[in-house]
Amino acid sequence: MSSLQVKLVKCLSDNYSYIIYNPISKNALVVDPAEAEPISKEIDILGLKLNFILITHHHQDHIGGNIDLKNLYQCKIIGYEEDASRINGIDIKLKNREIYRFEDEEIEINFAPGHTSGHVFYFFKKNKFAFVGDIVFSLGCGRIFEGNSSQMFNSVMQIKSLPDETKIFCGHEYTENNLKFCLAFDKQNNDLKDKALEIKNLRKKGLPTIPTDVLSEKKNNIFFRCDNPEISTNLEMRGETPEKIFEKLRELKDNF
Ligand SMILES: [Fe+2]
Repeated sequence: MSSLQVKLVKCLSDNYSYIIYNPISKNALVVDPAEAEPISKEIDILGLKLNFILITHHHQDHIGGNIDLKNLYQCKIIGYEEDASRINGIDIKLKNREIYRFEDEEIEINFAPGHTSGHVFYFFKKNKFAFVGDIVFSLGCGRIFEGNSSQMFNSVMQIKSLPDETKIFCGHEYTENNLKFCLAFDKQNNDLKDKALEIKNLRKKGLPTIPTDVLSEKKNNIFFRCDNPEISTNLEMRGETPEKIFEKLRELKDNF
């Protein structure tokens, strides 16, 4: 039975990086190190051996710690083959859907463009963890910088199609703002009202709202709910396809 632990590390102003480790063997990897110092501090406190860095996309606030951590721990940097030229210090280049083994886990890399043209997410098949970078946030999705709405829609649907119990670890704490947007266009959603209380309680205590999970996002994240007739009615877009609804929502959110 696999028993990997995840330690969330706050970085920069609102970034989250993640240390995933086996508490017995002490082997560890880190996902998207925004900066080195807070991560190396945790690695040392936990007495871990940092073996790998996994990168979801090339933005500076996801790779900023790469070189310092590599110099400190001689770890290997893993990323998507097609975006290798933009990932500092990359050592291991994976193809879409390739499996990388770590401890007894199988990590699947999945190409999911839209936020950037080379964005990937990592699905830990046994533990049911998804490290999604800036594709999906709790109650939201990433901005479209290098792709189009159709690509982003398909990428978000890839996350939605993971098993319900999958824990989602994203790159930022944007949940409170995303909640305001969901409440504005998904007023009739009673699950969302419960979720709002949960979020407010966590944030009042200064605690992260992450991880979330696929089931919770299916119930609450408006970008997962583009097939919901009440939302299309709220947008005065009854009968439109989920993809069109998604496009409209992304546009509205950009100016919210
Ligand atoms: Fe990003």
